[in-house]
Amino acid sequence: MIVRSESLKVGRPCKCISPVPSRYDHLSQEELIRLLEARDRRDATRFGLVWEANEIERDRAINSDFVALDLLPELSVGPGPWRNLIIEGDNFDALRHLRMTYAGEVKCILIDPPYNTGKKDFVYNDRFVDENDSWRFSTWIEFLYQRLIIARDLLREDGVMLLCINDENRAKLELLLDKVMPGRRIGSFVWRTKDSANDAGGNMSQVHEHVLVYANPRFQFAGKALSLDDYRNPDDDPLGDWTPQPLTKAETRLSRPNTYYPIQDPATGYWYPCDPNAVWRYATETRVEDTSQLRSDTIEELIRKKEIYFPACKPSEVMRWDTLEDLRKAIRAGKGPRLPKKKTPLFREDLPDLEFWVGKPIAPGRPSRKDYLKRKTKMVAPLSSWIAGKNEEVDYVFDDMENAFEVIRSERGGEGTDTINAILGNKAFNFPKPPSLMRALVTQAAPGPDDLVVDFFAGSGTTGHAVLQRNAEDKGRRRFILVSSTEATPAEPDKNICRDVCARRMSRVIEGYGDTPALPGDFAYLRCRRIKPGRMLDIEHAQVWTSLQMLHLDSLAAYADAPFLTAGDESQLVVYVPRYTPDCLAALKRAVKPCLSAVIYSWHPESIRQKVRYTHVEHAAIPESLALRFGLRA
Ligand SMILES: C[S@@+](CC[C@H](N)C(=O)[O-])C[C@H]1O[C@@H](n2cnc3c(N)ncnc32)[C@H](O)[C@@H]1O
Repeated sequence: MIVRSESLKVGRPCKCISPVPSRYDHLSQEELIRLLEARDRRDATRFGLVWEANEIERDRAINSDFVALDLLPELSVGPGPWRNLIIEGDNFDALRHLRMTYAGEVKCILIDPPYNTGKKDFVYNDRFVDENDSWRFSTWIEFLYQRLIIARDLLREDGVMLLCINDENRAKLELLLDKVMPGRRIGSFVWRTKDSANDAGGNMSQVHEHVLVYANPRFQFAGKALSLDDYRNPDDDPLGDWTPQPLTKAETRLSRPNTYYPIQDPATGYWYPCDPNAVWRYATETRVEDTSQLRSDTIEELIRKKEIYFPACKPSEVMRWDTLEDLRKAIRAGKGPRLPKKKTPLFREDLPDLEFWVGKPIAPGRPSRKDYLKRKTKMVAPLSSWIAGKNEEVDYVFDDMENAFEVIRSERGGEGTDTINAILGNKAFNFPKPPSLMRALVTQAAPGPDDLVVDFFAGSGTTGHAVLQRNAEDKGRRRFILVSSTEATPAEPDKNICRDVCARRMSRVIEGYGDTPALPGDFAYLRCRRIKPGRMLDIEHAQVWTSLQMLHLDSLAAYADAPFLTAGDESQLVVYVPRYTPDCLAALKRAVKPCLSAVIYSWHPESIRQKVRYTHVEHAAIPESLALRFGLRA
């Protein structure tokens, strides 16, 4: 499917031929080549989402300025060094810095991007995009594209990206993600946002939203540990403990006539009718000529191998009808074999095989396939894509399926607003996500005690709250990085959602509010600052030190004026020499000598290299090494 909108914004066909000035005249040869290469790549795409983008703008955005981070101790919580980060600024800037420092290190990106409502819900190229923007849909897609292609580089090999989105925009975002992370779609969750009807009007009451899941190849949800209590060995099977699994599949006798057949237990001679609405999962030798072509065993083979379990039944429970008329009467009277849980009758008068059952002993239970514990490659049950409400009763289609998969649960959307009210004393933020939803997702997607979770559309900070809650539950040490914009506009220049909502909320959560106990945690508050192209020499020492720590360590301390600064430990020491003077050499040598490895960053690497000549010490130049990692061309 191709989704197109509006007409081309750039590259409109020009009727004139040179020497009339062109909009490309000012571009260098290098820029022109990059532009053409980007077009070649795009034109090679035959299937997917198409949208209008200003490629010159995109290219410039990605390749021009540097982003530094200012650490603001007065807005940070905890004494430092800090393990968690809140970054104020446009997330495009923050992500570019994070790609320099955390590429390949993030376990879970959990975001709730703006839904493109037209109510100024996203900031693109330093301006809010509202409903008067004629390119609104393409701009939204381009806005997300520029961020997602950076964000995917942050993920570990077993990392995952979870994206909350409403029903209206789900399809567009999914096509975009297919482009950003081709072949990496895992699936999507559905959660119910409210119990009441939606008052937006229209034909449908919109009461659900989605969470899209795209992941790198080694990702697995935590699922839930298999309950070993479900595995038993009531028939002394030599293969050991097993649990019964349904023998049926969701196909009817009309769609799969070949697998609608009766089964007989050879040990008792009792017969088991097939459910006309859920036929057997396995083929029968009586209907397949060449069984060597089958991908799985026939039912007869499974019975011979004793891998089918027939539930015990008393002779008094066995049913038998001697004439077809007796059988029909029983059906009309509501008697006859039924599904054990739902009580749906298995016989109907319209079934073509009723004659077969006359005179046969029919057992009341259902045979099942033995699922052996020793054959399990994974000891976890998968996750249901249905996110149930807190008290919702989940209707398991098959008997005994309750432990076969994990259902995660969430409160409705109102929990988000109630939580913000309780923490900040007012409705400081519109439509925050319910913490229980984010906590359930963090629990499943970032189960490791040291996992790093990033939310670059943090808004009121629900993801950070969820990470600290989860840590408190399982004594984890997960870290969060939240990025939030200020939402300031010319009309409200002092508005600062990041500082006044996100950071305030996290600070109250860490200190405890009302009757809610404090949650262990901290955060450093950072602010993005762009450094103009070609002005890398303007970078400040404090900004360098912040970037270097983020690059090498799991925590961040404030800059202090000193001949050199160190962080890390003896296995890997990071050193920054802001102003080199020979006086500091002796102390520098003493600091790095006992380490297994060390890296000294300085503005004069050659001078220091000549004096500090240890094989385990690496020397790197500031600002060049940062510029290079950032992706700036020299
Ligand atoms: C749907 S809200 C996220 C709400 C969040 N999940 C919560 O529970 O509070 C999206 C947020 O993205 C922010 N946003 C929009 N454009 C942004 C940008 N360019 N950089 C950073 N944040 C941005 C909006 O200001 C808004 O706070």
